[in-house]
Amino acid sequence: MNSVGLIHYNEEVSVYSLSCGNFSYQLRIGEREDLIHCYVGPRLRGPTADGSTADAPFIRRRLPVPYACTSDPADPSSSSQVIPSEWPGSGAGDYRVPAWRIEYSDGSSSRSLSVTDHRIVDGLPGPEGLPSVRTASGDRSLVVKLQDDAREVEISLYYGVCSDHSALMRWSSVRNTGSSSIRIRQLSSFSLDLPDNDWHCLSLPGAWARERWLERLPLGRGSFTAESRRGISGHQMSPWMALAAPDTSQDTGSVLAATLLYSSSFRLQAECSDYFQTRFMGGIQPDGFCWLLQPGEEFDSPQAILSYTTGGLNGSSAVMQQLIRQRVVHPDWSERPRPPLLNSWEGLYFNTTQQTVSELSAAAADLDVELFVLDDGWFQGRNDDTSSLGDWYPDRQKFPEGIASAAEKVRSHGLKFGLWIEPEMVSPDSELYRKHPEWCLQVPHGKMLQSRNQLVLDLANPEVVDYLADLFIGLIGSASISYIKWDMNRNLAETGSTVFPPEQQGEITHRYMLGVYKLADRITSAYPDVLFEGCAGGGGRCDAGMLYYFPQYWTSDNTDALERMRIQYGSSMFLPLSSMSAHISAVPNHQLGRSSSMEFRAAAAMTGSFGLEFDARDLSGAELISLKQIIRRWRAYQPLLTSGTLSWILPPDWDSSSPVRPAAGNAAWSPMREAAWMVSRPFPGHSHSQESREPEALVVYVQILTAPAVPPRRLRIPGLTDNTLYRILLRYCMQPDSEEITEEWQSSGEDLRYRGIQMPYLHGDHRIVYIEISRLQTE
Ligand code: GLA
Repeated sequence: MNSVGLIHYNEEVSVYSLSCGNFSYQLRIGEREDLIHCYVGPRLRGPTADGSTADAPFIRRRLPVPYACTSDPADPSSSSQVIPSEWPGSGAGDYRVPAWRIEYSDGSSSRSLSVTDHRIVDGLPGPEGLPSVRTASGDRSLVVKLQDDAREVEISLYYGVCSDHSALMRWSSVRNTGSSSIRIRQLSSFSLDLPDNDWHCLSLPGAWARERWLERLPLGRGSFTAESRRGISGHQMSPWMALAAPDTSQDTGSVLAATLLYSSSFRLQAECSDYFQTRFMGGIQPDGFCWLLQPGEEFDSPQAILSYTTGGLNGSSAVMQQLIRQRVVHPDWSERPRPPLLNSWEGLYFNTTQQTVSELSAAAADLDVELFVLDDGWFQGRNDDTSSLGDWYPDRQKFPEGIASAAEKVRSHGLKFGLWIEPEMVSPDSELYRKHPEWCLQVPHGKMLQSRNQLVLDLANPEVVDYLADLFIGLIGSASISYIKWDMNRNLAETGSTVFPPEQQGEITHRYMLGVYKLADRITSAYPDVLFEGCAGGGGRCDAGMLYYFPQYWTSDNTDALERMRIQYGSSMFLPLSSMSAHISAVPNHQLGRSSSMEFRAAAAMTGSFGLEFDARDLSGAELISLKQIIRRWRAYQPLLTSGTLSWILPPDWDSSSPVRPAAGNAAWSPMREAAWMVSRPFPGHSHSQESREPEALVVYVQILTAPAVPPRRLRIPGLTDNTLYRILLRYCMQPDSEEITEEWQSSGEDLRYRGIQMPYLHGDHRIVYIEISRLQTE
């Protein structure tokens, strides 16, 4: 037996046991040198946690499998149709979706693989040129190597285990060990076969302005797929998917979740077989993908993060949020407070001139924000969205003295200066396009489809990446810019490149993404102190991969507060709170026309990386006072919001048809529409040693719509330590705009969980109660 920290190998039964925080993961080398999935579930700590019984149930018991295709006719149960696999291939009698498919030099695709080597290494090696979870001391990885019978390919499977997070990082790599070229048609990041099918599939489908609405469907026979074919992860589906036990609520139930550190076309899938086993896998979208691999070359899949918890959706999202904040977001930013900002988009749209910017930034300074962001409309000829992308120099009519001078004026108001860019795009009506039409993605007989009047630059072409890197590194330096909003306003369509031969055109979608990552890496590394915010028509490419480069993301173009709560709920499945940009915008809301109260808009925006986005030149005296108060309140909560985890007590707009039941057994029915969430640090349930009066949790209760003749909600608060005394401070206004009332008392964790807090009677819609909870003393 040998064991390196978190990874243990039991030689007698050839079982690897991976201890991933709160869960265990086991795999085994089978009799045929194949790789067999044994277990994923609650952490095993008992005498057989070393895997000594891991092979017992499925392998030793012979399953009658009539018509099975197998290399051992005497033993139909040896068919790959039923053996739980870690790395299923095609054409070998499995019949389910394979995890990988390679076209060998002889044109065939069905060869089995055998394990040739396996070792434990320090750290978390990651895929080349792709974002990955950053290594910390104590991390370990298992690397298993497999080879086909003809020794043409070697596949390495990576299993990374963190010393301080309940997660497993998986990815794969193919090396051509033969003497002829081969084609990779599919390469997953991970795959595993669960022994049962009693799962619900959770995914994050959406649309522009309706990103990441959590959906839950029972897994039936056949497949459930969450995928993108758009060349970006997209508004329509985020690269996150979970299998949850049918009884899963916000804070209880088994959840096996996966997210990809990948921002291009992807596929996550669950398939229930005829034997009621469930295959869960994910990686690059195989549709349209084909990578030519020459002898000696290697190709790496993106990395996937897997987590398993019995703590329901809050438990699952806490792992993802914490891991991504601490290990994916750049360490310089993971604990760094974000400046409250005012963005010019909804206030000025394209009417950005030296004059309007000066006026708006002066108004922003009056509001005590710290950063002014000049959004779209500042560069040559950009008066609407029909032209100019690619011509990244200031419009001389709007900014006769240039951007550096505009930035200087903004700084003279005591604010930092930020700028909007969209590096990957070009307008057909631009100097750049006229000079370099061959720099756009295109196919020989295609039409170059436009979306938002723009074309996509070919970032698979290193020359384009170099050009853009030099240009933007120069631009940021020239105006001492403190913040960049990196936008990307369309999906890819014709994914062809003029610089690659016909046989490599199936690589372009992935190569485009490698180019984006390289460009983002070069620009962000040149300016480690500049805060980068990702954006893609709102939250269209909001995924863990982009967060490796951009510490925060504009989650949606929809700034309506209620819609934002729904979007923030879904986004919180993986997106850390401090990465979730959220702004207070004007009423009636520009996207939906809905009017919501200031306190309601503030509550939605406050629980994120906070900003304002309206014409602050128009504010009334009362609005000014109330906004200043909001910003003061936000500043007081900022330490908690920077490193806190977002969990949900009542999912937003909750009713009995909502996909997930509330936490802590909160009543299942209420004629009021409501929401409640909690920001806590660290995640509730973890122990703390020091007494503190700083709120360690902030609960925001939202009465979205009031109702007649109902008792106010008794809000049960989960996750605090039962035998600990807490100080509770309630803040609310009885009527809109009336004096704030504060109430303070002490209560124990168990009291808050089981008895809960009776919410005050609140008059009207869109009403908020803030509940600050700080630890007083441990038993
Ligand atoms: C996208 C972004 C918006 C804004 C506009 C500017 O739609 O999501 O926030 O920056 O582009 O054109």
